Amino acid sequence: MGRKRNPWSIGMLTLFPEMFPGPLGFSLAGRALDEKLWDLNIYDIRRFCEKSAEVDSSPFGGGNGMVMRADVIDRVLSTVTQDPNYAQLPVVYMTPRGTPLTQEKVKIFSQGDGAIILCGRYEGVDERAVAEWGMEEISVGDYVLSGGEPAAISFVDACVRLLPGVVGKEESLEDESFEEGLLEYPHYTRPRIWKHREVPEVLVSGHHKNVKSWRLAEAERITRARRPDLWDIYMSKQN
Ligand code: ADE
Repeated sequence: MGRKRNPWSIGMLTLFPEMFPGPLGFSLAGRALDEKLWDLNIYDIRRFCEKSAEVDSSPFGGGNGMVMRADVIDRVLSTVTQDPNYAQLPVVYMTPRGTPLTQEKVKIFSQGDGAIILCGRYEGVDERAVAEWGMEEISVGDYVLSGGEPAAISFVDACVRLLPGVVGKEESLEDESFEEGLLEYPHYTRPRIWKHREVPEVLVSGHHKNVKSWRLAEAERITRARRPDLWDIYMSKQN
């Protein structure tokens, strides 16, 4: 008899617990949360700090901003990982200096058991906590957010929609951006003419093979124009 698997679990470490579930409580992710297809536990970092002490402190060596203290982060993680559901999960630190998040990486996480996510604030987290817990540092793009929370929401949303049973048949995952290494082709719906703009003829032709090749050509055109980096990889994988 197979052991019942725990739902995909996220332990979220944050200084702003009110930000959660936020957007993760709506739409696909929200419905899946209600249906217990995944699980979200929020840990308020501040509650793990001694009375009257601060969670952050000024950086050794000087400079602007404040650094989140290693001892405080360690206390939260030690507590969270006492729960057997969380003990084996990877610890992810959301930071603009992390490895850029890709759909490939999202897939790997969605096939695992979940993650413990540390949302950074201020200038960052004491490097010793990052090293001690072997954190995987992930960035959601080359821009700086005021904290890791919106990044964590993006990351979890992208993973949750790949969990089994979350996306229904009607919202197929097959044709979307990045699946074939290409950005997605354009979409149209009614009305057929709107503000003198017509839907491309081929899409109303009923000729499935032509529709397919038009969509591929459009996906290629858009990828080539917008993402030369993806285009080079795509081209290198042809034939
Ligand atoms: N925190 C601040 N900016 C971020 C980014 N771009 N990615 C992940 N975490 C962040």
